[in-house]
Amino acid sequence: MAEDLKITPWGVSGNVQDKDYDKIANEFGAKIIDERLLKRIKDVTGDLHPFLLNGIFYAHRDLDLVLDDYGKGKPFYLYTGRGPSGEMHLGHILPFMFTKWLQDKFNAELIIQITDDEKYLFREIEDRDLKEFTHNNIIDILSLGFNPDKTHILIDSEHSGILYNNAIKVARNITASSVKAVFGLKDSDNIGKFFFTSIQAVPAFILSYLKNENIRCLIPYGIDQDPHFKLARDVLPKLGYYKPSAIISKFIPSLQGSGKMSSSDPNSVISLNDSRNTVRKKLMKYAFSGGRDTAEEQRKYGANPDIDFSFNIFRIMEDNQSKVSSIYESYKSGEMLSGEMKSIAAEKISEFLDILRSRREDVENNLDAYMFDEKKFN
Ligand code: TRP
Repeated sequence: MAEDLKITPWGVSGNVQDKDYDKIANEFGAKIIDERLLKRIKDVTGDLHPFLLNGIFYAHRDLDLVLDDYGKGKPFYLYTGRGPSGEMHLGHILPFMFTKWLQDKFNAELIIQITDDEKYLFREIEDRDLKEFTHNNIIDILSLGFNPDKTHILIDSEHSGILYNNAIKVARNITASSVKAVFGLKDSDNIGKFFFTSIQAVPAFILSYLKNENIRCLIPYGIDQDPHFKLARDVLPKLGYYKPSAIISKFIPSLQGSGKMSSSDPNSVISLNDSRNTVRKKLMKYAFSGGRDTAEEQRKYGANPDIDFSFNIFRIMEDNQSKVSSIYESYKSGEMLSGEMKSIAAEKISEFLDILRSRREDVENNLDAYMFDEKKFN
């Protein structure tokens, strides 16, 4: 990995460039999703989500095993999560869209762990703030339209009984020295951090535990979460469970085109409550453009869509691939100008945000239907 690049679940330092991702996956020991695997997925799903077509979800661990089992009629379940630290932005919500796609295509049960204890341990955040963020984050996620019969929100502070009783089984099999090695924790770090990975490992076997029968788990996550699951894969077989499988994503880039979309820089994010006008203004003002400096040069030489924020966000949000290709061509050839590209992306984003907002109230009134409940699995 590049010297200045450091990726752990609680921070990314240095600028992750697209070329670094393969190296990161290799160093972590994950595999790249190749054409063969894409084809295997497509054979089941019928089409490929733009996140797969565009290499956003680009690496995996034992995805083949999940597909093997599925092909034999054995179901698997999905598990993903969110550690509330503030309001969610576009970069946070997009990966959940992909999880929803997987859930729909494979008709899978899904556990969403809300680690409302995580940022308390890892950042200077007070309890009170977390309650409100947690509530809002859950509604934001569910507004994507998850199926209430198959989606189970597991909240650390509320479902602490089952979590704790299983976390200690994991904790007994992890030493302080391996946590230090995998996460770079030090003796001066608080001991809650050392324990935390055991809490995050539990949902990776919770259905097998409840059903008393092994069922594979596939976890979609951003590459920064990999250290947790690397450890979980060592431990779970010792408890009699399968190693969890993973499908792993790159970060959603910031408006400026490099680095990840991060709340610490408000100019780098599209927030979920940004109005149409604000989305438009942010893109016009801050979105990194692969276009030329003047309209004249642009007409003459064309743009580089591959490094253009607006094009890139558009292509991962648009299902219609022939539309994406034709926009690519006309932007690249100089027929389309940067301003038009930005308008197209702004429109796509706003449409999506409008849909989320239109569903919030219903979701909020129906929250109980989505809450994790052991009894549903017995
Ligand atoms: N640690 C994650 C975060 O900081 C939240 C999380 C918990 C998670 N379990 C997960 C993310 C499983 C992906 C997959 O947001």
